[in-house]
Amino acid sequence: NVLILDFGSQYTQLIARRVRELNIFCEIYPYNNPPKDLSTFKAVILSGSPYSVRAEDAPHPDLSEIRGKLPLLAVCYGAQYLAHFSGGEVAPSNIREYGRANLSYIKEDEPFFKNVGKDSQVWMSHSDTIKSLPANAVKIASTKDVENAAYKIEGETTYAIQYHPEVYHSTDGKQMLENFLVTIAEVPQNFTPNAFVEEIVSELQEKIKDDKVVLGLSGGVDSTVAAVLLHKAIGKNLYCIFVNNGLLRKNEFDSVLDQYKDMGLNVKGVDASARFLKALANVEDPEAKRKAIGNAFIEVFDDEAHQLTDVVWLAQGTIYPDVIESISVNGPSATIKSHHNVGGLPDFMKLKIVEPLRMLFKDEVRRVGKTLGIDPELLGRHPFPGPGLAIRILGDITKEKVDILQEVDAIFINGLKEHGLYDKVWQAGAILLPVNSVGVMGDERTYEKVVALRAVESTDGMTADWVHLPYEFLMKISNEIINKVKGVNRVVYDISSKPPATIEWE
Ligand code: XMP
Repeated sequence: NVLILDFGSQYTQLIARRVRELNIFCEIYPYNNPPKDLSTFKAVILSGSPYSVRAEDAPHPDLSEIRGKLPLLAVCYGAQYLAHFSGGEVAPSNIREYGRANLSYIKEDEPFFKNVGKDSQVWMSHSDTIKSLPANAVKIASTKDVENAAYKIEGETTYAIQYHPEVYHSTDGKQMLENFLVTIAEVPQNFTPNAFVEEIVSELQEKIKDDKVVLGLSGGVDSTVAAVLLHKAIGKNLYCIFVNNGLLRKNEFDSVLDQYKDMGLNVKGVDASARFLKALANVEDPEAKRKAIGNAFIEVFDDEAHQLTDVVWLAQGTIYPDVIESISVNGPSATIKSHHNVGGLPDFMKLKIVEPLRMLFKDEVRRVGKTLGIDPELLGRHPFPGPGLAIRILGDITKEKVDILQEVDAIFINGLKEHGLYDKVWQAGAILLPVNSVGVMGDERTYEKVVALRAVESTDGMTADWVHLPYEFLMKISNEIINKVKGVNRVVYDISSKPPATIEWE
């Protein structure tokens, strides 16, 4: 188990992912709220930071319980702070170094650089520099502009590097992390999907015992994997509820429900389409739609949960990025939660929470799902927003519009699958625009709806670019949509990136 102490760098999550790729478990803690007990950690990594070490309000935590006591790797700001903390000197640099650099000196026989190329490319992002090293420190690498690009402290397993090993542009970054964690710190590489499943299943059994658990399935990867894990742990005591809000993809409710039943899950499908449509009648504002759908979902889920007796736990498919967000250096405080209106909450919200995936990144959830034998097609599904097609129908929502958009969306998504493009796209869908345009079909003038197609590549949805789908494919899909879907006479393709656009239109 490795501890990553976060000083607020945008790359901290990437460090964690690289460490996990080595099959080593790690956890991120904010520097100002570290774990009380360090005895379970085998090594510590200090992250980068947007701050300058010399700034008054910069993170200056006490490292005396860590340095010299546990193997330590300090990265970027971490390296500067370690120098500053240990009596070295950090000063503004004459040359600000951002971007690619190459190692020009590497200390001979240094295990940190085992299997690392002579002038390996590293990624720099700093404006301060380490002018003088602390006592007992030895320089182990330099670049053309940065004398102390890496150092270690003699007699300790303490290493520090000015560059970012976690980013893709540091060619041997992963090798250096492996050298430090595996060779130098001797951390075992035992965090595999199988090991995770075994451990979490026994943890869940111990925690939940014979209690009943309720879980809301969405058809997405996270809630599905959470359900299968819990089912493995507690079997029939897991009660799943899958709500049809009428805004899912065409046939999705029935097909996913069947799949869930085939997996042996105890799941109740609730068709609440009419209730959601009613709640959405004449609502045009995107945020108002989200609110209406959220409220309707809570009502439906509460009604269903009420029909179960003696339920103690509410299971959720929360994953690690959500957890980090809520405890991060810049995020909301982990300790402040508004529980003062508990009386007004729906009953199911008063249940105890269990989140079996809260330590996993998305790709790890998929790997765990694979280990559990979940259908690869289900695991490879594109993300789909909770409010569903409601935020892809611009303006007010009617049953007719939902029907039209479901047909268009199905032609587009099936087309992507048939042409081997589905897995090359991160997310795709169709948008029904609130305008009519003139067309001609046969000898008749038409005046019908316009739909937009959207397909993006992304890693986390935070930034995205439109996919350059082949013209031939777009032509075929456009023809098929206009010929088959009554009420649509024009198709356009969205070529906006995020930012400045967003993925969804609402
Ligand atoms: P945007 O449109 O903000 O979307 O670029 C980024 C990602 O988030 C999804 N999204 C939502 N998911 N409830 C959800 O569960 C929502 O209200 C919502 N809005 C956007 C979107 O599909 C994309 O994957």
